[in-house]
Amino acid sequence: MIQFHHVTKTYPRTHTHALRDVDFEVKKGEFAYITGHSGAGKSTLLSLLLRRILPTEGHVYVAGQDITRLRERRLPHLRRAIGMVFQDHRLLSHLSALENLTFALRATGNRGNMEQRALLALRQVGLAHKRKAFPIELSLGEQQRVAIARAMVTNPPLLLADEPTGNLDPDTAMEILELLNDVNIKGTTVIVATHSRDLVDRFKRRTLVLRNGELVRDDDRGGYSL
Ligand SMILES: Nc1ncnc2c1ncn2[C@@H]1O[C@H](COP(=O)(O)OP(=O)(O)OP(=O)(O)O)[C@@H](O)[C@H]1O
Ligand SMILES: [Mg+2]
Repeated sequence: MIQFHHVTKTYPRTHTHALRDVDFEVKKGEFAYITGHSGAGKSTLLSLLLRRILPTEGHVYVAGQDITRLRERRLPHLRRAIGMVFQDHRLLSHLSALENLTFALRATGNRGNMEQRALLALRQVGLAHKRKAFPIELSLGEQQRVAIARAMVTNPPLLLADEPTGNLDPDTAMEILELLNDVNIKGTTVIVATHSRDLVDRFKRRTLVLRNGELVRDDDRGGYSL
């Protein structure tokens, strides 16, 4: 599903070596954590997958396609295939939970049965009863569940989450992880960037560890500690 082929990313203005010769593959249907301390390169790796930035060297493949060579006009197509969940959820504050989802459907050209599809996605994260609530009327954990529903409502084959449990208490964080696991079981490839040792240790899955931009470990059994 995704492949990093000897990827180096240097941010030119600050000469920061954010990633150095990173090489790995995540197969279709897999669940993988990207871990490492703050500044290790996790968000850079996700930005490369969305082609928000280009690598300095190397190639990034998504679904067999070298996205470093993708033409501008194909970018919307790539981004439609990727669901994204951020730490700060980035819901639209003037729209209800349901409307945030129908907005995402409309934006990606999925115009049929929008209300039904949005409601189904909210039901899957256990929040159908909150469909009329605005983000400010939801708890942080609920907001994050809506954000996951929004990322999944378009049925993307790949879901990326950048520190999705960052602001949550441990129990709520586990609920979010379980939700991402459900998404994975239904066939979506899931990549979760996190520096939470706790989560990675409690919910063991394949774990890629970055240190100063280098991939220093890739462990199928998971767990954080070196
Ligand atoms: N747009 C940018 N321009 C210049 N340097 C950047 C940029 N974005 C990130 N960096 C630098 O690249 C390195 C990796 O940053 P990145 O955001 O990928 O780390 P991270 O692992 O996601 O950290 P965190 O856990 O704090 O989110 C850091 O040294 C950071 O300062
Ligand atoms: Mg980050």
